[in-house]
Amino acid sequence: MTSLFRTGDLAQLDPLIGADLRISVGGEQRRYIDLDAAATTSASAGVVRAVQEFLPWYSSVHRGAGAKSQYTSARYEQARETIVRFVGADPATHVGLFPRNTTEGLNQIAFRLGLTRDDIVVTTAVEHHANLLPWQRHAQVRVVDVDRSGTYDVAAVVAALDERPTPRVLAVSGASNVTGWMPDLAAIAAAARDRGVLVVVDGAQLVPHRPVDMAALGIDVLAWSGHKMFAPFGASGLVVDRRLLADGEPFLVGGGAVKAVSHEEVIWADTPDRDDAGTPNVVGVVALAAAAEELLAGGARNRLHEDLLVRALDDELATVPGLRRLGPTSGDRLPVAAFVIHGMPHGEVADRLSREHGIGVRSGCFCAHPYLSRLFGLTPSEVQQFHDDARVNRADRLPGAVRVSCSSATPLADVATLGEALRAITASRGDVLGRPAATAGRGR
Ligand code: ALA
Repeated sequence: MTSLFRTGDLAQLDPLIGADLRISVGGEQRRYIDLDAAATTSASAGVVRAVQEFLPWYSSVHRGAGAKSQYTSARYEQARETIVRFVGADPATHVGLFPRNTTEGLNQIAFRLGLTRDDIVVTTAVEHHANLLPWQRHAQVRVVDVDRSGTYDVAAVVAALDERPTPRVLAVSGASNVTGWMPDLAAIAAAARDRGVLVVVDGAQLVPHRPVDMAALGIDVLAWSGHKMFAPFGASGLVVDRRLLADGEPFLVGGGAVKAVSHEEVIWADTPDRDDAGTPNVVGVVALAAAAEELLAGGARNRLHEDLLVRALDDELATVPGLRRLGPTSGDRLPVAAFVIHGMPHGEVADRLSREHGIGVRSGCFCAHPYLSRLFGLTPSEVQQFHDDARVNRADRLPGAVRVSCSSATPLADVATLGEALRAITASRGDVLGRPAATAGRGR
């Protein structure tokens, strides 16, 4: 499996599939610039090669006696081990499962832990909805709040862990999908472990960018997405301490999850089979394992390039008149930046980047409404207004921001092009006094 970089040549990225895609911009053909990696990345060439090599062998998993089925089943189980090792866990103690995405993985674990309404889950105001709603559904959440810079400290997590009743679970993101901020995961996981609280980490943003060592960090459960790490074939990762899945009904019931079934009784299989009902997405799993190998090989070179991207984003965005960043702009961060431009609705900025410059970004609230409310400093009555508007499908004054996000395969030149585009847009905006700065968009 090749790295996203050619060895020894940081400037030469091994391009992603579609990196040379050309689109019409104002009647001119231009290369499409994808700055929306926090939502989804394109496939890497290595992942596509792995899928193509596998496809002739594609067959049923654990359901056939033929050579193709034997091979497919072996590849599937091998991938399970690969993803467990990829995140620093031991296949003897941790099992790898393949949900469709982080959202499904977190729903699955929230269900499998058998939480009741008396259980407390400590989570934070940084979370995107995938790491909030499943916990809100099954238990009571105790939220660690953030300051206006969109960060919290370890002491705030410790205080929430020490509140009574004692929580059962700490559920935190390894990195924000909005600001790229990363909490001190080692310290907060250690605090939870010391108190006997299970540690569940939403790695949707962290895993594509940084190596994660579950054993060293003391993480019990880690969920992340294949489609954000160059493996867009519908499989993702959920690595769980096997003891947590030893008992109980699976999230999804059906064939493959059982040892015996009658109309009166079901004898569930042991995990992972218990947690893997139905025919799995083996093509997606092959892609996920290939992407994991590729990210491991990219290692320090990816990190070096991403740090350059962070600095380039900081420099370019600092020169755009009227632009205000949301979240921290110093310290260790992922190459992700959210901002508003004075007098310009977020949806308009995103539309103009696309229509006039061929640059794809995301705008809105990034499936993280509570976090955006904190970053904007909305009052409770403004949040209520936001909800009232949503209830009647009124979208013209929803708050929101613009987000640009890079992967380890984003060329530095694309960030420079973004800066030029934003300066051109702000230079041409004319008289915008009196228009709301952050509202009016259609993003979610
Ligand atoms: N959480 C994903 C994003 O930030 C969907 O775009």
